[in-house]
Amino acid sequence: MPSLSLAIVLAVTLRVLDWRVEGAIVPVRLTRGQGISSSQVTTHGSCRFVTLTAERDDRDFWFARFSIGASRNLSILIDTGSTDLLLNPDVYRPSKSAIALSRPFSMRYGTVNSDGSGEETVRRDICSREGVSDHGRTQVNGTVFQDTVSLDNTDFSVPLQSLGVTTSISPGPRPPFPHDGLMGFFIPGSAFGEEVPNWFSSLCRQPSILDECRFGLALEPSTESAFLYLGGVEQSRYAGALSTAAMHERYVFGDVAVGGRIIHRDAAIMVDSGTTVSWGPIESVQQLFDAAGIRSIRRHNSTTLTTTLDGVYPCDTPPRLGFGFPSVSNALEARSSRLSVVSHASKVFDMLPAALAEHSDDQGNCTASIHGIDQEGDSWILGQG
Ligand SMILES: *[C@@H]1O[C@H](CO)[C@@H](O)[C@H](O)[C@H]1NC(C)=O
Ligand SMILES: *[C@@H]1O[C@H](CO)[C@@H](O)[C@H](O)[C@H]1NC(C)=O
Ligand SMILES: *[C@@H]1O[C@H](CO)[C@@H](O)[C@H](O)[C@H]1NC(C)=O
Ligand SMILES: *[C@@H]1O[C@H](CO)[C@@H](O)[C@H](O)[C@H]1NC(C)=O
Repeated sequence: MPSLSLAIVLAVTLRVLDWRVEGAIVPVRLTRGQGISSSQVTTHGSCRFVTLTAERDDRDFWFARFSIGASRNLSILIDTGSTDLLLNPDVYRPSKSAIALSRPFSMRYGTVNSDGSGEETVRRDICSREGVSDHGRTQVNGTVFQDTVSLDNTDFSVPLQSLGVTTSISPGPRPPFPHDGLMGFFIPGSAFGEEVPNWFSSLCRQPSILDECRFGLALEPSTESAFLYLGGVEQSRYAGALSTAAMHERYVFGDVAVGGRIIHRDAAIMVDSGTTVSWGPIESVQQLFDAAGIRSIRRHNSTTLTTTLDGVYPCDTPPRLGFGFPSVSNALEARSSRLSVVSHASKVFDMLPAALAEHSDDQGNCTASIHGIDQEGDSWILGQG
């Protein structure tokens, strides 16, 4: 018994010391989903980027614990690809200081099953596409509140944070997000108004709470361990120089590479922890698969009018597919203009074979976790799976 309580005291002390001594960077351990089927919607300001994860388990998502209003210990998906805090129906209980804004919000999203089995994750930008049929689309409605939002086991608490509470989904009844809801870290562009700061930017505005307005994610699916770092760059989590790229609206520019050789320059890329697989423009992905010797399969869905491209390769000889950050041309520009925030050299990061294999069959064929789609414009979304 004494040794047990000592261990607990030590653990607690170490945990407190951890972030008192280092001060600047607070590590928050994330937990991984355990395999419940789920779906998910995310938005980007007036544009709606949407992910629907139909009948797919939540094992590829990472969650942190938040207390929101009078609801404690909620499990919230950490999403770098969207901006707002959104909660499932029946999760939120307002605190005494809550303000119910009279403004409702409404989102629509499309669903596509590219493999016909209902196990595909698809994201679509539906802000720029007028006249796309509403067939097969799902609608989520809700109301906006302001309330206190605190990250459990830290000092990080934001009063009067805007949050969206979903009240209805059609066709229902499945809740839109796995677990209790989703916390967007992407800046800018809230669905609650362009000037509305999200939780992390609200935190950054508090005097002397963070050394730097920066966060980082370190995900290690193989060890089931992941951390969210708030307040700076945790240098112990990477080797060599950090590659930094410039944001251009919602994207950074990167190069697409096969076997370390660049085949496509300056692709507009969004890096998104809330999407499990990766999506690119269908012709660029075709080019990538061809260059890598990956057999490709095109599928057209006549209901949603969407064409998708899947790639299949032998699991025992995975191709080397990678993305270079910043793009070579951005690095050259930064060097010639002596811009110090963007790296002056580009580095290609190859996908780990385990991350490239989305699933495998009995014959040793693997389906690539990169897919092409004809409805996403010219941009790529790199998921974290
Ligand atoms: C929060 O919820 C999880 C899952 O239900 C539980 O394991 C954990 O003990 C809870 N933590 C607190 C502080 O209540
Ligand atoms: C096409 O998409 C719809 C809507 O998501 C889906 O119900 C249907 O099964 C898909 N058809 C095929 C052939 O994948
Ligand atoms: C969402 O709101 C819109 C507009 O107010 C309404 O037409 C629609 O029926 C609502 N959808 C659901 C699922 O409640
Ligand atoms: C899948 O595996 C079978 C048996 O090894 C092989 O004949 C077939 O060509 C493979 N398909 C692909 C797309 O690699």
